[in-house]
Amino acid sequence: MPEDQSKIVVNSWNEWNPLKHIIVGRADGTMVQAPEPATQRNWAEDGFPLGTFGPLPEEMAEKANLQLDNLTSVLEQHGVKVDRPTVLDFSQSVQTPDWVQESMFGTMPARDILLTVGNEILEATMSQRSRWFEYLCYRPLLERYYKEDPNFRWEAAPKPRLMDRSFRKEFWPMFDAMKTDEQMQHTLKMEWGLTEVEPLFDAADVGRFGKDLFVQRSTVTNAAGIDWLRRHFPNHRVHEVSFADPSPAHIDATFLPLRPGLALINRIRPPLTPQLRELFEKNDWEIVESAAPGQKKKAKLSFCSVWLSMNVLMLDEKTVIVEEQENSQMEQFDQLGFNVIPVPFWDVSPFGGGLHCATVDVYREGKLEDYFPKQIAGF
Ligand code: ARG
Repeated sequence: MPEDQSKIVVNSWNEWNPLKHIIVGRADGTMVQAPEPATQRNWAEDGFPLGTFGPLPEEMAEKANLQLDNLTSVLEQHGVKVDRPTVLDFSQSVQTPDWVQESMFGTMPARDILLTVGNEILEATMSQRSRWFEYLCYRPLLERYYKEDPNFRWEAAPKPRLMDRSFRKEFWPMFDAMKTDEQMQHTLKMEWGLTEVEPLFDAADVGRFGKDLFVQRSTVTNAAGIDWLRRHFPNHRVHEVSFADPSPAHIDATFLPLRPGLALINRIRPPLTPQLRELFEKNDWEIVESAAPGQKKKAKLSFCSVWLSMNVLMLDEKTVIVEEQENSQMEQFDQLGFNVIPVPFWDVSPFGGGLHCATVDVYREGKLEDYFPKQIAGF
């Protein structure tokens, strides 16, 4: 049966086709989350010593929301429809039959929760108790897309139990206290706080390159999670990748496609999966190293690094939205032949990320394509 194209709401296969519809997160009420097995925030110098939790300061949330609202206007000026999630009371304690968690997190980094693959939006498992219920912020939108678009596949990965056995006991405080090179030993072994008891992944560990999905093993995505994704997307090739990042979480400040034939890699996080470069070379894709970040240190109360400099959003394969202070990164894009749209966004970083993290595709033009016809056995 031919589809009624006018009713299609959800369609996006990669990170670069012309963008028409997107979700932009909100900063309201975001928490320094209460301690949990997966993570314990320890930011004494900024008012949140180990064991404490609470909302990020109101004036920080206001500044972040101004920048998120500005991004929304910029997108709308470029003909992109923008939806926003529904804020919950993230200071409330939440529970399942298995555990009680004293606070939620927030709803700024939409990319972490939802994975759009073609006409499907998949709710990720998530791997922190504070983020277990975050999908609820997106339900009003997903319900609407489901009503409007008869072709929309609305999916949710199995809700994880997140019992103590899903985590390595006492891992986080030990890891948090380590120096970078000690942490890197864990990356080399791909051994962090998650066990393999159940599939766990965040949507932001997936890079979408048409038929090929690159999924980062990380502190928030385990091997079982990648196996689940592989079985869930039988028409895709799911490649497990890892990079020399001492504390990996989310692929989009490490490795990001820019247009067919060109991807950007974090200059200090080379791939640890040798097949990655091989596959790209074999298919005439170039991987360029990112420019140096403009920021000297991470933002106060942020769990993200200065490498949000490369966490950019493509409007189409010629146009990229970049944080306005990232001069070297903007210059590099310029030299690579992109039109650059600078927007202020650094105040958003304590709320969970940059321009790519803050957004999730609903509709980009185009269809499923194979950009890597020459594959490598076993990858
Ligand atoms: N872990 C990354 C870094 O600090 C930040 C990635 C954030 N991405 C996201 N989707 N929330 O370099």
